[in-house]
Amino acid sequence: MHEPTLPPGLLFGTATAAYQVEGAATEGGRGPSIWDTYCRTPGRVARGESGDVACDHYHRYAEDVALLADLGVDLYRFSVSWPRVQPEGKGEANPEGLAFYDRLVDTLLGAGIEPVLTLYHWDLPQALEDEGGWRTRETAHRFGDYTRIVAERLGDRVNRWITLNEPFCSAFVGHAVGRHAPGTREGTPALAAAHHLLLAHGTAVKELRAADAGQVGITLNPDHLLPATSSEADRAAVERARTLHNRTWFDPLFTGAYPDNEKETWGGLADGSYRREGDLETIGQPLDFLGVNFYRPIMLRDAPHTEPDPALRTAVDIGAEQVAFDGVRHTTMGWPVVPRSFEDLLVDLDRRYPGLPPILITENGSAEPDEPDAAGRVHDRDRVDYLRDHLSALARAIDAGVDVRGYFVWSLLDNFEWAYGYERRFGLVRVDYRTLERHPKDSYHWYRDHLKAHRFRR
Ligand code: NOJ
Repeated sequence: MHEPTLPPGLLFGTATAAYQVEGAATEGGRGPSIWDTYCRTPGRVARGESGDVACDHYHRYAEDVALLADLGVDLYRFSVSWPRVQPEGKGEANPEGLAFYDRLVDTLLGAGIEPVLTLYHWDLPQALEDEGGWRTRETAHRFGDYTRIVAERLGDRVNRWITLNEPFCSAFVGHAVGRHAPGTREGTPALAAAHHLLLAHGTAVKELRAADAGQVGITLNPDHLLPATSSEADRAAVERARTLHNRTWFDPLFTGAYPDNEKETWGGLADGSYRREGDLETIGQPLDFLGVNFYRPIMLRDAPHTEPDPALRTAVDIGAEQVAFDGVRHTTMGWPVVPRSFEDLLVDLDRRYPGLPPILITENGSAEPDEPDAAGRVHDRDRVDYLRDHLSALARAIDAGVDVRGYFVWSLLDNFEWAYGYERRFGLVRVDYRTLERHPKDSYHWYRDHLKAHRFRR
């Protein structure tokens, strides 16, 4: 059988996000974000953990860049903390905040690593949340101002910009499941948040174009959704979930229209009251790349709504429930390992959305138990298998015609895994949270060898 290999031009990197690694939550003039508030609310985050210290990357960034250089990556994806740049989410920029990202970018460039900058990885300034946050249109405009500040400062050295990371999570995990900040369970306001996030993206694209900042994209987490059976009802449940997870983002961004089955999915909750004329034009501006994060597929079956009264439903109560995957390994996130789904998802998106911009896989990786041996080494064979098998799946997708230009492992470091805290480890590098020491795992060495072999073929 023909086993395709990855094209020599494919770029490789690793990814992190500000709140998950930086720490220094009250240093350098940083204001509070919704995640600071969420972590301080009892019962929200496992063991009451927070990103207060995290990996202390704010102080140890030079050591982390040295790890990246030794790893041999082409790219490093990080996010800028909005409340570090604008502590209140509006007004004057905080010079100390910008200076940190200046140093980080210069250190990366000095090491021959291209910075890939995400403007929003979930840490909304708390002051904006107090005024309605993503439920209000104002926040999209504030995001435009913030983007302008960052683009003016770093646009001369950063060439790839990601507006938002996984707006699905910001809108729905944050405002409907309630498992991410701000942690509410809402209906129409969650749909308004989704729309305002898209509008914020479009507003940021305009600012980045005006600043001539370089290549612009957005990172989405489209799900590969499978029906539990071939019944009509289960397939209809998958179509509703496709709207919730994928079409809400892909359709306005890449087809210039809202999904045509919002009524079937949400009934009266999707009342469109938050939309204005001209929004689709702002949202649907051409992009230079699409970021895709992929971890695992989801299997669904038709299920009764959890809330019988349609007016009281949350935006994620769409009459579908998840079904477990049998016979496959699950990571410590409880996620099934099905590399084939990575290939199928990419091919499916390519077919559904002709004219999609080139793709960067902005995250892929696995959380594993990672027990160190007596010498402190982590033999994370399962992570190596995960990465190798997903790269093979990626090679098959590219062979089938999907235009993928880059791939990032999530994550460089073990870090703050949101509501799960520090127990779930995704890093190629182990972080000892008592000492904050970094210890490369076997997967780090494996990825380094993989990158060497790949570079040899260039
Ligand atoms: C996606 C998110 O962007 C990232 O912040 C998170 O840590 C990983 N998935 C793993 O759950």
